[in-house]
Amino acid sequence: MEKKNFDWENLGFGYHETEKRYVSNYKNGAWDEGALISDSKIVMSECAGVLQYAQTIFEGLKAYTTEDGRIVTFRPDLNAERLIGSCERLEMPPFPKERFLDAVTKVVVANEAYVPPYGSGATLYVRPYMFGISPVIGVKPAEEYQFRIFCTPVGPYFKGGVHPITIKVSDFDRAAPHGTGHIKAGLNYAMSLHAIVTAHKEGFDENMYLDSATRTKIEETGGANFIFITKDNKVVTPKSSTILPSITRRSLVQVAKDYLGLEVEEREVYKEELKDFAECGLCGTAAVLSPVGKVVDHGEEICFPSGMDEMGPITKKLYETLTGIQMGHIEAPKGWIHVIR
Ligand code: PLP
Ligand code: COI
Repeated sequence: MEKKNFDWENLGFGYHETEKRYVSNYKNGAWDEGALISDSKIVMSECAGVLQYAQTIFEGLKAYTTEDGRIVTFRPDLNAERLIGSCERLEMPPFPKERFLDAVTKVVVANEAYVPPYGSGATLYVRPYMFGISPVIGVKPAEEYQFRIFCTPVGPYFKGGVHPITIKVSDFDRAAPHGTGHIKAGLNYAMSLHAIVTAHKEGFDENMYLDSATRTKIEETGGANFIFITKDNKVVTPKSSTILPSITRRSLVQVAKDYLGLEVEEREVYKEELKDFAECGLCGTAAVLSPVGKVVDHGEEICFPSGMDEMGPITKKLYETLTGIQMGHIEAPKGWIHVIR
């Protein structure tokens, strides 16, 4: 298979149209059989549910070329399950798990020429999504839906790859108690746009959102969960009903315990504790595990001892073990690696 001619090593996290995408339509109470198509454009009613009331949800996962040349995805079953949870919360028809897995495989195989080579630092980002496509004018769920998957080759989410970033404690809230913070709904990202543009204008790479009820607890960023390392090498990660249950975070917790023998605490984490941590990282499919060097809280700088030059030592071990599992040179726990071919 001849690969496309990308400068893989220097790819950013952007969209490049590939050849094929998957589409399945929900009409009269059932999903059709679905198909791979070439047209990347979507035509819909001006009054579609997604356009009027933001009835849309998505997922994100990656396909990797392993050291021995296979193409694999990482825990796609968890993306399928999380999408079903998102469907339930937004009154959308669930897309069956087995069909989700099959559609991911079809899209990756059909776009194999876009799967970046092993060792390039790039991956194929796979974006499943679903939206209400039939007209809706009174506030209610749409009757018809479209489920699609496209993919795009990507490089690191943060410029500079694994270089530590600086984040600010945001004055905006991301999620309300009993709201939609725990699902992957487009609306959560729309309302974070002003906050991220503001943070970027001020020179920060990302936002740290606090719990909106008390503004004392650390939640997550716009696109990743937090992992902290204590000075005695414990892994601490925020537990909250209003953050997205990151598949990367859940995997890192298991890697920390089972591969590195580290103690892990999943619990409420207070902003006041920040100054006591030795290392901090952002974890997610796009972010992988990106080190944070500094948090700025209304002018007060909290600088982690790991510094601004490189990843802290425990974060590095977590990163190397996780990516080693994903790239196939460290044995994976059963069921984590889904071989495409
Ligand atoms: N939190 C938010 C808000 C996200 O958008 C993402 C990305 O998917 C994550 C966390 C990380 O989740 P995952 O590791 O499943 O990609
Ligand atoms: C992902 O990591 O897959 C996400 O959806 C996060 C997004 C900010 C790109």
